[in-house]
Amino acid sequence: MMEKNNSGMKKSNSENKINRRKFLISLGNTATGIVVLGGIGVTFEYLTPNVLLEIPKVFKIGPINSIQPNSVIFEPEQRTFVVREEQGSFYALSAVCTHLGCTTKWNDIGAAGNSAAVISCPCHGSLFNKYGEVLQGPAPRTLDKYRVQLEDDKLVINTGEKVSEDEMILKV
Ligand code: FES
Repeated sequence: MMEKNNSGMKKSNSENKINRRKFLISLGNTATGIVVLGGIGVTFEYLTPNVLLEIPKVFKIGPINSIQPNSVIFEPEQRTFVVREEQGSFYALSAVCTHLGCTTKWNDIGAAGNSAAVISCPCHGSLFNKYGEVLQGPAPRTLDKYRVQLEDDKLVINTGEKVSEDEMILKV
């Protein structure tokens, strides 16, 4: 009985050692797996280009007969207003406030005591008329005006090419 018990206990001890060994091996394999996966993740992140895609400076709108006179199209990606005047001509203005760069809003019905359309900045209250001229600060200067050209019945707006007040209007 004692031998049996003793041998039984020995057997049980050796089984425990095997189980502990298996446990330690699987623990080691798991830890190795985690380290390898982490290494793969870091390598993948290292090899992935860490660049911001640049927003295209040139964009198209049209065909022009689909744009109603006396209307404004806001292009959120380029933060640009494209305006069609009552008489049919076009111009494009930057919607970026010249104070600290907030995106301005076009208000058809006017604002702050102005009954005509205005462009207002929600950040610190600057106000511009519909041609981008400052009506109320703190904006230090007019909104940028961009070159607008006609190409195959579409407008091509180049936000990389600022123009003067004299060059801003495209007559069609
Ligand atoms: S950013 Fe427009 S008023 Fe300050």
